[in-house]
Formats: sequence, C-alpha cells, structure tokens
Amino acid sequence: MITASEFDNLIKGFQKRLVEETGECYSETVIRHWLQPRNPFVMENPDGHARVTGPCKDTMEVFLRVSSNIVTGASFTTDGCITSIASGSMAVELAEGKSVSNVREISQDDILNGLGGLPEESRHCALLASDTLRAAVDDYVRFIAEPWKRLYRH
Ligand code: FES
Repeated sequence: MITASEFDNLIKGFQKRLVEETGECYSETVIRHWLQPRNPFVMENPDGHARVTGPCKDTMEVFLRVSSNIVTGASFTTDGCITSIASGSMAVELAEGKSVSNVREISQDDILNGLGGLPEESRHCALLASDTLRAAVDDYVRFIAEPWKRLYRH
C-alpha cells in the first residue's frame, strides 16, 4: 500500500515527466484525477446514462443515480487520454450531491476550474465531459417523463 507522501511524490514525478515528454504542464489536480479517478466504472441500472463521442473520436460515458431529485451517485468511463480521464473524474465529483438542475448547469469552465486548468489543446476534453454529463441528465429527465421507455433501453 502506497502512503500519502509516496503518492504525492508519484504525482510530482509524473508532472515532471509530462513536462519533459510533452512540453505541457498539468496541474497536480489533473495528475491526481488521472491516477486516482473518481468512480471510473459502469453503473448497473443507472437512472441516467449517456455515451458521447467527441470530434477527437474519444468516447465518454456517464452514469447517474438519482434520488429525490439529487444526484446521489455518478460514475464514468472513457477510452480517451489523460485529460479526458481527469475531466470525467472531475465531472462526476462536481455532480455528486447536487440537484439534477444544478448538475445540468455544470460547464466546461467548471470542470477546467476544478482541475486547475488544462493546456489549450486539451480543453476540449473538459467539454466532452460536460456534454456527456448534461446528456446523462437529459436521459434521466426523459425517462422520468416516459418511464416505460426504460424497458427498451440498450
Ligand atoms: Fe479526445 Fe481528450 S483528446 S477527449
């Protein structure tokens, strides 16, 4: 089991390596969410779900558990890059505990702010995360209005 200070050193090591290898500086928060993403799993029987593929061809899925109009659980998966993992992780962290309407308002900027920013060419990863989160909320709202459609969900 790795200690907290060993994990901090690991993060600083990755941060240094990424600067050397890509020339890009990622915040410690980005590295932390990449190495230890929040809820990176497929949720069974979610109340809301969306799968979105971005222009870069990476795909993200978001799953929501909703109780009394509050998002009590959120998870994600992605086949994307470091920053899409960090963005998905931040999106579900921001969503948990908020009302459905507040979650629908979570934006690309909210995710970027939570992560301490992203390099210019990676900012679209945060947009993919906010778009997928919003689509999952819309899926939840649609199924609340027409619950029988749940039977035909794939
Ligand atoms: Fe496609 Fe990050 S490069 S989501």
